[in-house]
Amino acid sequence: MRVLLVGGGGREHTLAWKLAQSPQLEKLYCAPGNAGIASVAECVDIADDNIEELKDWALEQKIDLTVVGPEVPLVLGIADIFRQAGLKVFGPDSNGAQLEGSKVWSKRKMKEWGIPTAGFTIFDDFEDARNHLSRFYGGQVVIKADGLAAGKGVTVASGPEEAEQALYDIMIERAFGEAGNRVVIENCLNGEEVSVLAVTDGSNLVILPSSQDHKAIGEGDKGPNTGGMGAYSPAPVYTPELARKTEKVVFKPLLKGFKDMGIDFRGVIYAGLMVSKDEFNVLEFNVRFGDPETQAIIPRLDSDLLPLLLAAAEGDLTDVEPRWKDDHAVCVVMASGGYPGKYEKGKFIEGLDALEKTVDKQVAVFHAGTALRDGHLVTAGGRVLGVTAWDSDLRKAVDRAYRACEQIKFDGCYYRKDIAHRAL
Ligand code: AMP
Ligand code: GLY
Repeated sequence: MRVLLVGGGGREHTLAWKLAQSPQLEKLYCAPGNAGIASVAECVDIADDNIEELKDWALEQKIDLTVVGPEVPLVLGIADIFRQAGLKVFGPDSNGAQLEGSKVWSKRKMKEWGIPTAGFTIFDDFEDARNHLSRFYGGQVVIKADGLAAGKGVTVASGPEEAEQALYDIMIERAFGEAGNRVVIENCLNGEEVSVLAVTDGSNLVILPSSQDHKAIGEGDKGPNTGGMGAYSPAPVYTPELARKTEKVVFKPLLKGFKDMGIDFRGVIYAGLMVSKDEFNVLEFNVRFGDPETQAIIPRLDSDLLPLLLAAAEGDLTDVEPRWKDDHAVCVVMASGGYPGKYEKGKFIEGLDALEKTVDKQVAVFHAGTALRDGHLVTAGGRVLGVTAWDSDLRKAVDRAYRACEQIKFDGCYYRKDIAHRAL
């Protein structure tokens, strides 16, 4: 199999690391990749949203399977264009990708298909939206821009004043461009979040082990939200009973809804749930693997990843049954100082070579924002590395991940010290 992986973050490094172990793999390419991915795949210098060029390259290279990591190319229609050209793709067409690409579409479909989610109202006029906020005096309210905003389009406001500022930024200042044409104003939910990912061929589901992200920058979940500061799997909040309910009232109705609309969804559906004592709701859907959830889930996969992704892309998952290890896996994200605000790039990263030479096979360092400059590994993004460790005991997995983090140094390096605190 000649496989092309599209993307260049920590999620893609994790997928590349696992795909590279497949006996069915002949050659792995990654566009554009990063400095870590380059150790397991040949990186191709084409941006992940340059779809026409990627398609021409994939045809020329006789690629057997393309796996799409990020949401942007999926929403832009990479899967439609590749499939029209006769290429096999793991990832939904642009019609299925609306589930992540438009909050308005996604909320309307959840309501129509009876999937539990927070109550909401949609607005395309700033004044109308602002007037609606008076209903939330004394309480929290959530404002969502209607489109991709790199994880920054959602504000959980402590009250109407903060909510009004968010509305202004989205609809008047156009902080997220076109995503400011409409907003969703939604009731705030409380509880514990869990990420549940399911690979699907459009009819069958392979639900992956649960995981929990840590979105806030600071310990104790304080401070602004980020792309994710760490994750662990499994998440004990996702009990077997909740798993049964989620399959029944979230994934099954979603697949039926897609079928009824003629959407042939071949890829992964990510359900972000909010779980409280007496109820659970879907906060959001994504149409791709989570980042950093993937870094904590994939090391627990005992069987081969390639046949799973290929079967979904080919539209027949019936004979695929992945095996999972009982281990707990923990990913700690090492970030550039200042992230998620302004930060500097180009800092030398030290200590990785020594770490890789140690005999510990239960640690993997997945690169997110790294690059090679004159032969030196340097930082090249906000989230730099995802240091992942696993063990049959969660505490030991956590300790192992943090021991590895202590060996890695770069100027301004920051990481949360409390990843997995809820499960410990
Ligand atoms: P989304 O992109 O819709 O998942 O929102 C990003 C994050 O905002 C979620 O992971 C939650 O932490 C938070 N969030 C979104 N919707 C709500 C809600 N209705 N109530 C509370 N928090 C929310
Ligand atoms: N970790 C959150 C996401 O992938 O959207």
